[in-house]
Amino acid sequence: MTDAYLNRRTFAIISHPDAGKTTLTEKLLYFSGAIRFAGEVKARGERRRARSDWLAIEQKRGISVTTSAMTFRHDGCVFNLLDTPGHEDFSEDTYRTLTAVDSAVMVIDAAKGIENQTRKLFEVCRLRDIPIMTFINKVDREGRDPFDLIDEIADQLALDVCPRVWPIGTGGQFKGCYDMAHHRLLLEGDNGKFGRTVQLSGAGDPEFEAIVGEDAAALARETMALAADGYAKFNVEQYRHGALTPICFGSALKEYSVSELLRDVARFAPPPSAQKAHTAAGDVEIMPGDPSVSGFVFKVQANMDPNHRDRIAFVRLCSGEFRRGMKLKVSRTGKLLAVNSPTFFLAQERNLAEEAVAGDIIGIPNHGALGVGDTLSENGGVKFSGLPDFAPEIIRRVRLADPMKSKQMKRALTALAEEGAAQVFTPILGADFYVGVVGALQLDVIEERMKSEYGVAAAMEPCGYDAVRWLAGDEAAVNAFIALNQSAIAQDRYGSPVYLARSAWEAGYAEQKNPLVKFLKTRERV
Ligand code: G4P
Repeated sequence: MTDAYLNRRTFAIISHPDAGKTTLTEKLLYFSGAIRFAGEVKARGERRRARSDWLAIEQKRGISVTTSAMTFRHDGCVFNLLDTPGHEDFSEDTYRTLTAVDSAVMVIDAAKGIENQTRKLFEVCRLRDIPIMTFINKVDREGRDPFDLIDEIADQLALDVCPRVWPIGTGGQFKGCYDMAHHRLLLEGDNGKFGRTVQLSGAGDPEFEAIVGEDAAALARETMALAADGYAKFNVEQYRHGALTPICFGSALKEYSVSELLRDVARFAPPPSAQKAHTAAGDVEIMPGDPSVSGFVFKVQANMDPNHRDRIAFVRLCSGEFRRGMKLKVSRTGKLLAVNSPTFFLAQERNLAEEAVAGDIIGIPNHGALGVGDTLSENGGVKFSGLPDFAPEIIRRVRLADPMKSKQMKRALTALAEEGAAQVFTPILGADFYVGVVGALQLDVIEERMKSEYGVAAAMEPCGYDAVRWLAGDEAAVNAFIALNQSAIAQDRYGSPVYLARSAWEAGYAEQKNPLVKFLKTRERV
């Protein structure tokens, strides 16, 4: 048994674009000591966002961060922060990233409250009961009333709420924050940002008004008393069950409450826990302290460095003590993979990962041996569950500008499909390629990446299909259905048959007419 995993905190930040995720990420790195300077991150465009929000940090700061995972140490803990793409389209990528974390930080803009994307990401967290800490950002600006914001979280997300850091005024009246758990004032330093803390004996301490003024102290006392009475008391078990969210009001830009958030993640966010998996003997739970190494690929990223055609599989370890050079079995192919140059992604550099435990994220360079959803394990015979493919809602035919480039197109599409950036289907009749995505923005990204990374100019044109269903169930019935509907049958990249329907209605109709055939909207590869 190993218990080294107990100090791992593997988490993601979920938010709506512009709420401050990038800024908070950078400040978390800064306060943990992982980077030495924190500057403002600017210049973001939709395209960059679609790849990763961290790229901007990399460009701006000249530090070598990866776009998908980052490891830093602080306060005796090893933090693994995973990036969830910040664009508005909900993608499978985002979903899968959230299967690889043990907790999340939800960032909310104090002027806007809960927005669309926050809600969607929250729902994904809820499916897995992922515990969530809330950071209500931008309190240095004019924002909504704190009670309004807290009630909105409680009502809309059906969570118990527990404020832990409270704003002392907002906008022009902003005077700092009050750490309610420790009775500390967080105040401005010399540069207009948070710079010093003052320990008080309690909210009634006369030093409070001496520092922030009588009116501000009186208002803060009153509102904090109301908040302490009106909302839940902090309870770590409830938080870890995903039933209660602790709330910090703060400002990522002005650095208020960032170290309090980091401290709370270190103290209260859960270490890795059991993961569900299939084995020949049935469904089991793999415990993080189990001696045998296991993990799964939640993301594959190709061409991280355009000069090297590298492809990195991001593996979340779930058990055992991994050592460099180990041979791990890949669930999908049954092949052994010698993991000789696994990488940790630190803020300043990439390091060879000599050892890693549950909760850690290692990058494994490969040439297509690993795909999203694959399980790696020392003993073989296990497959982690919960990493499905989703039926795409947008389907396009790929039309090449130069028909001579069909080989390159195939290579590009295969690589993008292995990354999980798109799904690729080949109709059983004809030589077309169809691309399926969950969000429209993904199409632009794919078109652009095919061109810039693989030199293939292609257009994505409508093909008359609007729904895809995987076919399963009674084999004879499936075969009969395929034989009768050949022009609407394609294969996914693993060779599994899918039905292409002109609409969700048509898919439903086919389902009704063929009761022995299952028309699946999600598919888990075993
Ligand atoms: P995102 O990754 O969630 O999309 O958000 P990001 O950190 O990029 O922040 C979005 C904008 O909000 C940035 O403004 C950023 O400086 C600002 N911001 C982030 N945190 C705070 C905060 O605590 N207080 C204030 N006042 N602003 C904050 P920008 O892109 O530089 O300029 P603009 O978008 O305002 O034009």
